[in-house]
Amino acid sequence: MKLTAQSRIVVFTGAGVSADSGISTFRDSDGLWCNHRIEEVCTAEAMVYNRKGVIDFYNERRRELLTKEPNPAHLAIAKLEQYFDQVQVITQNVDDLHERAGSTHITHLHGELRKLRSSRDESATVPIEGWRQDYDTRHPDGSLLRPFIVFFGEGVPMLEQAIRITEQADIFIVVGTSLKVYPAASLLQYVRPEAQVFLVDPGNPDLSASRNIVFIKKRAAIGVPELVDQLLDALKTTD
Ligand code: APR
Repeated sequence: MKLTAQSRIVVFTGAGVSADSGISTFRDSDGLWCNHRIEEVCTAEAMVYNRKGVIDFYNERRRELLTKEPNPAHLAIAKLEQYFDQVQVITQNVDDLHERAGSTHITHLHGELRKLRSSRDESATVPIEGWRQDYDTRHPDGSLLRPFIVFFGEGVPMLEQAIRITEQADIFIVVGTSLKVYPAASLLQYVRPEAQVFLVDPGNPDLSASRNIVFIKKRAAIGVPELVDQLLDALKTTD
């Protein structure tokens, strides 16, 4: 594999990249959607009919996040920026562990726990100090604030940007996603045929529809640092 410092690296992550930081995934046996009903905490309707329940759910996610740290997978992904000029992270995660690990070009497809937003304008965000959102705090535009999370059934405003980034990739690394949620999972279809795809996951993601993928059947905290070391070795042999 011919790699240079100008090779464009894109890393597409899901909940599995944060699992080794102690944050639950969604669909594993002890996942969040095994203990909470999506209809009650992650839809626009729930925001109307179960406002307190939704706010409590995301307050709990935020409170838990404050006790967690980036793991070796997040750190290895951030380390790529020391060797490659163009590293982009596209994440389905709403935690800030990629930021805290040091990655600097991050596209959040499903929102961010550490921000709230206007109920009127999906792009009008405000940062949240600490973990607690009060039930009736309002945005400066007068609307009630809500979590800055893309709920099921809502549009994914960052999708176009993510597609443009994906189409440029020379190396596309998928980490810790079941590839079950669209349109995020469709990103794989936008990877150029000549780009190399790697997938790090200890489980059995459905690769039937995919093209040549190097599948690394390991936990992210083990498999991602190993992959990054291989990429750096390939870079050295090319220089
Ligand atoms: N390291 C790497 N991958 C792991 C690990 C680990 N330690 N533990 C679990 N995984 C893998 C699982 O095998 C699975 O493939 O992480 C993936 C988790 O899948 P999901 O729980 O479905 O999470 P994700 O794919 O991110 O969900 C996508 O669904 O609920 C919505 O908006 C939510 O962004 C989320 C989206």
